[in-house]
Amino acid sequence: MNNQRIIFTIFGGTGNLAYNKLFPAFYQLFQEEKFDSNIFFVAIGRREKTNEQYRKEVEDKIKKKNPDYSKRSFDSFKQRIYYYQLDFTNELHYAAFNNFMINLDQAHQTDGNRIYYLATAPTDFPAISAYLDKYCLKGKKGFKRAVFEKPFGYDLESATQINNSISAVFGENNIYRIDHYLGKEMIQNILTIRFTNQIFKAVWNKESIDNVQITVKESNGVEERGGYYDQSGALRDMIQNHLLQILAFIAMEQPRSFETDSIRDEKVKVLNNIKIIPDLKSHENIVFGQYEGYLQEEKVKPHSKTETYVAIKCEIDHPTWEGVPFYLRTGKFLNGKEAEIIIEFKKEVLGEPFGCLAQPNLLVIKIQPEEGIYFRINTKKPRSEKELMPVSMDYCQSCNFIYQSPEAYERLLNDIIAGDSTLFTRWDEVEAAWKIIKHLMSSCTKDDYLVSYEKGSEGPIEAEYLIKATHRKWWNIEDLSNSRFDF
Ligand code: BG6
Repeated sequence: MNNQRIIFTIFGGTGNLAYNKLFPAFYQLFQEEKFDSNIFFVAIGRREKTNEQYRKEVEDKIKKKNPDYSKRSFDSFKQRIYYYQLDFTNELHYAAFNNFMINLDQAHQTDGNRIYYLATAPTDFPAISAYLDKYCLKGKKGFKRAVFEKPFGYDLESATQINNSISAVFGENNIYRIDHYLGKEMIQNILTIRFTNQIFKAVWNKESIDNVQITVKESNGVEERGGYYDQSGALRDMIQNHLLQILAFIAMEQPRSFETDSIRDEKVKVLNNIKIIPDLKSHENIVFGQYEGYLQEEKVKPHSKTETYVAIKCEIDHPTWEGVPFYLRTGKFLNGKEAEIIIEFKKEVLGEPFGCLAQPNLLVIKIQPEEGIYFRINTKKPRSEKELMPVSMDYCQSCNFIYQSPEAYERLLNDIIAGDSTLFTRWDEVEAAWKIIKHLMSSCTKDDYLVSYEKGSEGPIEAEYLIKATHRKWWNIEDLSNSRFDF
C-alpha cells in the first residue's frame, strides 16, 4: 500500500451494485490488505440513515456472501464507511455536500484526492457531473477521478451526449467506464495466450481458424431488474459491451506495445470493422428470443418485445479475418451459467492411411464458472492403424487454490484507486460499439421476428439454424469436458 489517502464516493450507495458487488469487493481487498492506498468511503443515498445503519446493511450482505467474513476485521473496515443523505438530482444540496467532503478531507488528511463512482442511471451522469464541477471540484487540489457504471447510455445519441458532458468536467484521462468483464481473469488472459505462444500467434487468422464462438449464458431471469432490463434487452445489456469487448480482444492485431492506449487502439479498429448483415426472416445472421414467462416479470410491460436472448453471426472486415464467422450468443434463463470463447480451427483433410477428416482442433478459453484453457488435438487410437481419436489438454485455473482469482470488481476497483485505466473502455470503443447496435436496430424490425424459448433450455431453436446454415454447430463445453475421459 502506498501512503496516498483518498475519499471514494459512491452515488447510488443504496443500490444493488454497492451492496452486492462494490462493498464486498472493498472488504475483500481490505481483509487481504491489498488496497493500493488508504481509502475512506462515502455512500450516497436518498433515504435518511445513520452511518451505523448503513454499515450494518453492508455487513449483513457481506456476511451472507463471504465465507472469510470476520467480525473483527469488519469492525475495523466499517470505521472507514460514511453514509450521506443526498438527493443527487437536486443542485441545492451540493453546497452542503461539499462542506461535508471538506470536513472529511480534513479529518482524514486526504489532500483533496477524490474518486466519484456513479452507480446511477446513465441519464443522471451529466447532472451529477455538472453539480460536482460547480460545487466540489473547481480549484480544489488533489486528483479527481470519475467512474461510470454501465450502461453507458441507451443508444449512440444518448451515449454521445453523456460523454460530451462528463468529459467537459473530468477529461478522458480521469474517466473510468466500467465493463466488469474486463476485470475477469480469463479475459485479461486472452492477450497473453495469444501473443506469448508462438503456436497460437502463427495460426490466428483466416488460413487456420474456421470460426469463433463467444457464449455467455445465464441461468437466472431478470430478477428484480425488470424495469431496467425491459428498456435495455440483451443486445444493449450484454452484446454492446461484454461480448463485443471479448470479440475485440480475440480479433485485434498485436498492439505496438502493451500500454493502455496501444491495446485500446487495436480494439477500436476491430469494433469499427465489424460487419453484421441483419437478416431476420431467415434467422441466418441474427436471432432475438424472449423466455417464456418474461411478460409476467415485475415491471415488464405486458406486451413487451424486449429480447432476453440474442445470437449473432458477424464478420470482420480485415484481411486477417476475411470469411471467418464470429458467432456471439447470450441469454437469460438458459440451461446454465457459463461463459467461454471457442476457437474452432480448420479441419485437416487427410489422405491414406486415415482416409477421413480429422476432428477440428479446438481452443477453449473458459471464463466462468470454471476458469481455464482447453485444447483439443487428434491422435491415433491405440492399437488401431487408421482410427483417429481427439484428446484434450484441459487446464483448470480456478480448481487450483493457489491461483484463486479475485472477483472482477476487486481488480477493477483497485485499478481505479491506483489510477490504471487499462481495463476500462475508452470513449471511441464505446462509440464504435453503439454504432454497431444502431446499425442493427435500424436495419431490422426485431419486434416481428422475436421468437420465444423455454426457460432452462439452450435458447431458441432458431439459433441452431443460424449456425447450421453454414454447416457448423455450437460447441458445448460440457460435452467437450466429458469427452476428455474418452481415452
Ligand atoms: C451485467 C448485466 O452487465 O452483467 C446483467 O447488466 C448480467 O444483466 C451480468 O446478469 C452478468 O455478469 P456476470 O459477471 O454474472 O456474468
